[in-house]
Amino acid sequence: MITINTIRKPIEAQLAEFDTFVKHNFSAEDGLIAEMLEYVLTSRGKGIRPILVMLSAALNSANEGRFGKRTFLAAMLVEMIHVASLIHDDVIDESDMRRGRASVNARWQSRNAVVVGDYILAKNMDLGLSSGQFDLVSHVIKSMTTLCEGELIQSDHASKLDTSRDAYFDIIYKKTASLLSVSASAGALSVGASAANVSAMQRFGEAVGIAFQIRDDILDYTPTADTGKPANNDLRERKITLPLIEVLEKADEAERAEIISLVERCATDESCVEQVQQRVVAAGGIESATEVMKSYLQRAMSILGGYEETPYRQALLDLCAFIAERNR
Ligand code: FPP
Ligand code: MG
Repeated sequence: MITINTIRKPIEAQLAEFDTFVKHNFSAEDGLIAEMLEYVLTSRGKGIRPILVMLSAALNSANEGRFGKRTFLAAMLVEMIHVASLIHDDVIDESDMRRGRASVNARWQSRNAVVVGDYILAKNMDLGLSSGQFDLVSHVIKSMTTLCEGELIQSDHASKLDTSRDAYFDIIYKKTASLLSVSASAGALSVGASAANVSAMQRFGEAVGIAFQIRDDILDYTPTADTGKPANNDLRERKITLPLIEVLEKADEAERAEIISLVERCATDESCVEQVQQRVVAAGGIESATEVMKSYLQRAMSILGGYEETPYRQALLDLCAFIAERNR
């Protein structure tokens, strides 16, 4: 089984240096802001986005996998957009838990969580602009509007309980795949890769990102997963995701109406959550969604076929395998 440490291996030293770089840039002297930043930075999770930036930079480097400060800057910009978006997301979703710990809103209340998320975005922008690396900054910052669009489209479909397959893919591209796509392409851009290679990395990141979110949505239906978040939260939040869409599409009209009426009650009735969860599992929704996820990973891996065999390419292939297998 591939672990995140296998993937990190070829860029381990740079990742350790990156942590110090981020800590240095995102710290405050004292008080509430210092405490909150410290909390946020010590529960950053797997760090898929900086890993993707750096592996893509190493893969596309003309200098034997070496990369420098521009790559660190790109990695920090994407990672901190991600961190801020999750802080805001937990406020929106009223989630009390993230990565096995109290969410920022649970610990410091929503009003403080919103502001610390804003602070991180503002600081990120300041650091980006002060660096003078405007090509990288504008490449990365564009993804922020896409994330917001994704969140709002999702919210609209959740309130209407009408997420179709097309709407689902639009949402997951915008809320997740866009930032992974930007991570991979920014890594290539940071080392001066050709436009063709930046575009290949953009497509790679997008396919990986779609697969990553499908896996996330499958794990939400898996009570034994180790995600650090409560299972079946998507149903409580009226989020119709791929495992359920697969089942709804195969159901007849009466069954569909019955399932939707159960989902409608999931926010307040745990027995409805259980019923929908069991129906999705029994009707093969997990297997069907897994097949779709694998097709995106296949697409991602075939893009890497254009690169010569290096430990960086292998690590990106391992990342694809990890996404398929991950339990957290
Ligand atoms: C997690 O989704 C949320 C996102 C991937 C994006 C959230 C985006 C915003 C809140 C818009 C704000 C944007 C910026 C740039 C600050 P989820 O709720 O499905 O996953 P979860 O189960 O991990 O909470
Ligand atoms: Mg959420």
